[in-house]
Amino acid sequence: MSRNYLRYTVTAALPYANGPKHVGHLAGAYIPADVYVRYLRLSGKDVVFVCGSDEHGTAIPNQALKENTTPQAIIDKYDALIRDCFHKLGMSFDIYHRTSEPIHHQTAQEFFLLMQKKDLLTEETSEQYYDEEAKVFLADRYIVGTCPRCGHTNAYGDQCEKCGSTLSPRELIDPRSTLSGKPPVLRPTKHWYLPLERYEGWLKEWILDSHQKDWKTNVYGQCKSWIDAGLQPRAMTRDLDWGIKVPLPNAEGKVLYVWFDAPIGYISATRALFQELADGKKKFATPQRDFGKTGKEDWKKYWQDEQSKLVHFIGKDNIVFHCIIFPIMLHASGEYILPDNVPANEFMNLEGDKMSTSRGWSIEMHEYLEDFPDKPDVLRYVLLTNLPETKDSEFTWKDFQAKNNNELVAILGNFVNRALVLTQKYFDNKVPAAGILTEIDKKVIEDLKEFPARIAASIETYRFREAVAHLMDLARLGNKYLAETEPWKLAKTDLPKVGSILNLALQISANLAVAIEPFMPFTSNKLKVMLNLGNFSWQQIGDSSLLKEGHSLGDPQLLFEKIEDAAIEAQIKKLNDKKNTMDLTAIPVDPAKPEISFEDFSKMDIRIGKILKAERVEKSKKLLKLQVDTGIDVRTVMSGIAEYFSPEDIINKQVTILVNLAPRKIMGVESQGMILMAADKDGVLRLLQPSEAVQPGSMIS
Ligand code: 2FM
Ligand code: ZN
Repeated sequence: MSRNYLRYTVTAALPYANGPKHVGHLAGAYIPADVYVRYLRLSGKDVVFVCGSDEHGTAIPNQALKENTTPQAIIDKYDALIRDCFHKLGMSFDIYHRTSEPIHHQTAQEFFLLMQKKDLLTEETSEQYYDEEAKVFLADRYIVGTCPRCGHTNAYGDQCEKCGSTLSPRELIDPRSTLSGKPPVLRPTKHWYLPLERYEGWLKEWILDSHQKDWKTNVYGQCKSWIDAGLQPRAMTRDLDWGIKVPLPNAEGKVLYVWFDAPIGYISATRALFQELADGKKKFATPQRDFGKTGKEDWKKYWQDEQSKLVHFIGKDNIVFHCIIFPIMLHASGEYILPDNVPANEFMNLEGDKMSTSRGWSIEMHEYLEDFPDKPDVLRYVLLTNLPETKDSEFTWKDFQAKNNNELVAILGNFVNRALVLTQKYFDNKVPAAGILTEIDKKVIEDLKEFPARIAASIETYRFREAVAHLMDLARLGNKYLAETEPWKLAKTDLPKVGSILNLALQISANLAVAIEPFMPFTSNKLKVMLNLGNFSWQQIGDSSLLKEGHSLGDPQLLFEKIEDAAIEAQIKKLNDKKNTMDLTAIPVDPAKPEISFEDFSKMDIRIGKILKAERVEKSKKLLKLQVDTGIDVRTVMSGIAEYFSPEDIINKQVTILVNLAPRKIMGVESQGMILMAADKDGVLRLLQPSEAVQPGSMIS
């Protein structure tokens, strides 16, 4: 239900400070949130916009293990990187906080204690995996084993990355600890649980009945299936040495679950903002407007007053936490408001594949900024036109180039440039007088008036793609007006008419300068400088007299520049190179086998051979029957590679073969050796080949 509110509390998901963040994250949560907030500020609303680094959870010590450093070093490094990128991309947070800050620890612990005192948490002892060598309980991500669904041997305790199944550690076959490589044992441990099932009735009323119309269907649908499936108690504490200590006696070694503390991070960030405003010492606060006279308790207005509209911007993987778990916490505590909306986006793919930092298939924010340091708005624009609002979307470099060249340069930039250059040429860079209006002029003036409401309606209903399309239509209106009136042809015959046309074109440019601010803030500033334009509010858009006659303009400059094919080809190459050279050690690998002697090794006769013939084996999906020239002889080898190679692909290929393996009968055929393969993290097999062709029979030593 939409209602009128006095103020707005807007949050953007706190990114884990465990690595760089990519442009898919921007499209998921940050860009829509920033457009929304900038629009609200421009409309004069009382809004606070908070974000910050999520610095707890197993993701942090995991990354520390990978980088061979401490969790503290990890969060310091990635907090700084992400913070800097967000700043350069124009994210206008009033505060970008950190969950490692004492005020956050205090806020989260207070929240936990409040819930505990109100008897909202239950204590339960259960058996969990424990690594006897490392002497720790193992978080789900620290346990790997064979996936019970697809047989992948490196599935995680919470998910199999090969088949995508959600798992629990106890489902894994042959589990082993990633810390010691040993099989873990089950041990009893006590935790505090949030009994989600107690709130089923309330959730049905709050989400299913009240928000069916105003929440996005993807969000509503996910909530509904969670609720329909029946909710289970969820542990709010973990056995871990990195995180916020459980503030109770007898809770040694226990910390708050990261999904308990992280959303409270929004509250503590708001608290820190008002604390810093009151102290006059800004450490994390970057207030984007004049908050007037405030006190340090003012954060409460934004979190506890029903007149505040709370909106969470997130990606789809965070829906359950923001729509079910955190709201239950807020509701049960009895002191907080609930989100009015959670406009979560789906995912953005990249060049036909899922975006993933760990697989190297991504455009990280810092990588983009290194290559296009002066083009934050081009990225903002391209992502906005392609937000995954209702379904997954796709980023391609060719589309990036096309949107820049055909829309930003050819429509918006071209229109503004023509208006400014002609004014400089014929009117000494001063806004000429508007003369008698023609029918065309009147129509344009009327059309212009409709834009602010149209764009605002899209923003207020979280349809940012539509909003940016309307915005570009405003530039199109200007372009079309100049194309129809052709002022450059009239200069010799009717200069006052040229002035009149340019006056209106400049008014449209001024309107654009104001209206594009939420979407492309850097371009808005640039254009305002060129127009020497003061500050106007959103409500003033649509007015065709923003610039007074005789107003002096600044120097015209190009708003955007063309992006050449070579730059795009370089990006595509860079992306492919990154994927190919990605360090696959990021993926847990099987632990080392016991040591062997050189004598053991030298017993193996491994050589390079050449495949002469290959054929499928009847009734087997996996096997190929190969004839291999080993240099010693030509022999038959049965090889389980049919899922990865067709017989045609493999004939004449050089391969590595273990020739003195005892012969075995496979599907009735004697196999005389083994072709050696590398199995990558997905279980996909690759041939091992010499870097250059060698004589069959060459020994590997
Ligand atoms: O998915 C993530 O990156 C989480 N760190 C988001 C947390 S949002 C909030 F709850 F803080
Ligand atoms: Zn699987």
